[in-house]
Amino acid sequence: MTFETDIFSIFDKKWALLTAGNKESFNTMTVSWGGMGTIWGKPVATVYVRTSRYTHEFMDREEYFTLSFYPEEYRKTLGVLGSKSGRDIDKMNGSGLTAKELSNSMTFEEAEITIVCRKMFMQRLEPSNISDSDAAKFYAGDAAHDMYIGEVVDIIRK
Ligand SMILES: Cc1cc2nc3c(=O)[nH]c(=O)nc-3n(C[C@H](O)[C@H](O)[C@H](O)COP(=O)(O)O)c2cc1C
Repeated sequence: MTFETDIFSIFDKKWALLTAGNKESFNTMTVSWGGMGTIWGKPVATVYVRTSRYTHEFMDREEYFTLSFYPEEYRKTLGVLGSKSGRDIDKMNGSGLTAKELSNSMTFEEAEITIVCRKMFMQRLEPSNISDSDAAKFYAGDAAHDMYIGEVVDIIRK
């Protein structure tokens, strides 16, 4: 399982879809905060999900989640999936993405790369613990982020 990337731009500049659930019931949302690295001797991906997101419910419920990356032509789609909530509309309808079932999670046919993660850990980024004033601004009147660390168990290329 080899994968090389510029970790400082793949989330921030390219964006990703964070997806959790199964064929019958899943949700996806755009993320641009995240990381990949090593902890507890395992390769991991870390994501940060505000407690207000519908996807948050799926992240809590499911054992697995995926991070998927797309060609530039899907930028607009990722913009929509990052501004509408699956609570309010069927986000997949008209998105141009085709749901793809994996053995323990979901991704989309159009993804260039899908990173499959098994949830290992979650914890709230407690706003009162933030010592940086720029970071603290993200919580003025907005929900906290929960951090999810997942073991990278598979990397699927198109
Ligand atoms: C480029 C971009 C990046 C985003 N990154 C994050 C993120 O890292 N964490 C987060 O909680 N929300 C992030 N969002 C916001 C969610 O994608 C957005 O609120 C989405 O509508 C949530 O959908 P849901 O309610 O169906 O889960 C981002 C949005 C965009 C457009």
